[in-house]
Amino acid sequence: MSTYSINDLVSDLEGITAVYTDEREILSRAAPLVRRVMEDQSWVKPAFYDCGEDQGFGITVLHEGEDHKLLVEAIAWLPGRGVLPHDHQTWGIVVGIDGIETNVNWLRNDDGSKIGFADLTAAHELRVGPGDVAVFMPDDIHSVRNDSDKTTLSLHIYGKSLSQIDRSEFDPEAKVVRSCPKREKTAAA
Ligand SMILES: [Fe+2]
Repeated sequence: MSTYSINDLVSDLEGITAVYTDEREILSRAAPLVRRVMEDQSWVKPAFYDCGEDQGFGITVLHEGEDHKLLVEAIAWLPGRGVLPHDHQTWGIVVGIDGIETNVNWLRNDDGSKIGFADLTAAHELRVGPGDVAVFMPDDIHSVRNDSDKTTLSLHIYGKSLSQIDRSEFDPEAKVVRSCPKREKTAAA
């Protein structure tokens, strides 16, 4: 059986997104392909585990379309670290590779009319382990934590280059919404 590679995944996702624009349709068609690319993980490299101590996680870009329409990244999380709640403003799929990451989905209670203010409630906690798939709609708000004592790794696929989007980050305790900081990234060798 030939290996289904990241390049195969990218090419199939480009085909899907050329035909479909509805995010739910894209996610339902993309999820089985994401499971398929996990069958042979020879594309996973030790360098994917490299993390910046300041950021608390490390991003290796595996594919970023020149049209900024498709982004595939491996993200590693240091033990005890994570990110504040944020949105993606595009569809997204995460699949666990190594270790268990805690994904928290948040509900926004306010109507967004007060600039800089957001009132969030943690709604659902999902533990994403190897092979587990989590999907996100553009307005979904989630946070990620690595509660384990080892660096975790997961594969993330988004419908747009996140660096091109002015998306939101939330501080639930301070009830603040602001621009999501740009992440440090490494291009795959
Ligand atoms: Fe995210």
